[in-house]
Amino acid sequence: MRIPTTTFTKLPNHVAIIMDGNGTWAKKRGLPRTMGHRQGAKTLLEVVKASQSIGIKYLTVFAFSTENWSRPQEEVDYLMKLPFEFLAQYQDDFQKSEIKFQAIGKIDDLPEPLQAKIKEVEQQSLNNTGLNLIVAVNYGGHEEIVHACNQLLKQNKNMITEADFVAQLYTNNIPDVDLLIRTSGQMRISNFLLWQIAYSEIYFTEVLWPDFHKKELIKALKAYESRDRRFGGIK
Ligand code: FPP
Repeated sequence: MRIPTTTFTKLPNHVAIIMDGNGTWAKKRGLPRTMGHRQGAKTLLEVVKASQSIGIKYLTVFAFSTENWSRPQEEVDYLMKLPFEFLAQYQDDFQKSEIKFQAIGKIDDLPEPLQAKIKEVEQQSLNNTGLNLIVAVNYGGHEEIVHACNQLLKQNKNMITEADFVAQLYTNNIPDVDLLIRTSGQMRISNFLLWQIAYSEIYFTEVLWPDFHKKELIKALKAYESRDRRFGGIK
């Protein structure tokens, strides 16, 4: 028997996710917070595969914010190790399935081995034509905007356009976000993609990130399908 696949009348081109609730997921099980992040990385892989099979073109996930350095050292160390391991483990699969990887954020401040792995996988996957997977590490919306301003100052212009500004964002080659998802019941943006979400549809769910399986992604996409996007105009 053929299992029917879910079809959508419209799909977001760019989905961004604040993967929240790893710590809570672990606490509920009497596990250390790091185990919640480990499970979160497994969920990320599932969501990457699901997004690809559904036909989403851009997926951006928030792995570490410029504010996350204030967490206990053990957790920070683990959160730095996870993306390295994730990339090392799946970089060959990314090549096979044509996934194009990119990291955004203040990459220069990350541990050397992670910086090197990011560069390697970005280079390796540069010409891939499948899903664009963008991982925000040491990313903060404020930092990105100030960084863009400083880049523009170097150009000695006395006036800039929106296009000039966008060209200096870490996401300069990436379209704006259509659907922003945040798990774990928190209803805030937490300094994520501030410029890029100006007209995003936002979907909040109580589900903790490690429990955000393919069917939860489909629910979010179905919610998006029913939204009436106007971009400030009227119909
Ligand atoms: C927020 O949950 C989550 C993070 C700060 C880290 C997200 C990281 C992952 C999902 C790991 C996988 C990433 C890669 C790139 C492999 P929280 O810890 O703040 O949860 P809480 O609000 O329940 O405490």
